[in-house]
Amino acid sequence: MIGRLNHVAIVVPDLAAATAVYRDTLGARVSAPQDLPDHGVTTVFVELPNTKIELLHPLGASSPIAKFLQANPAGGMHHVCYEVADILAARDRLKKAGARVLGDGEPRTGAHGKPVLFLHPKDFCGTLVELEQV
Ligand code: CO
Repeated sequence: MIGRLNHVAIVVPDLAAATAVYRDTLGARVSAPQDLPDHGVTTVFVELPNTKIELLHPLGASSPIAKFLQANPAGGMHHVCYEVADILAARDRLKKAGARVLGDGEPRTGAHGKPVLFLHPKDFCGTLVELEQV
């Protein structure tokens, strides 16, 4: 059911420093920072030949990743995003299998303007999973 790895998201305490690491030390192509107020994050996209890395930094007081950064002050891997062809069919199949879908279970518009859902890390090997319909 799941397709390509769309991105790996990494929460960072210093977006400019993290961008410099990926651009200068690792030699990757990086985007300009983008504020996504609806998601409570500022992101930098790192373009790799086969996938993307999203560097995430909290934006605003109620950012959903603020707690993560408190618990992981040096930053760390936050979630992986897999592509699916039909997000509602994927959701229904996963719920039937007993997996927990976060929030109200309805897809919302993700950072790339496409429908996304998040799955409970305890059901997926301790890793927060995002599904994105492509
Ligand atoms: Co994501």
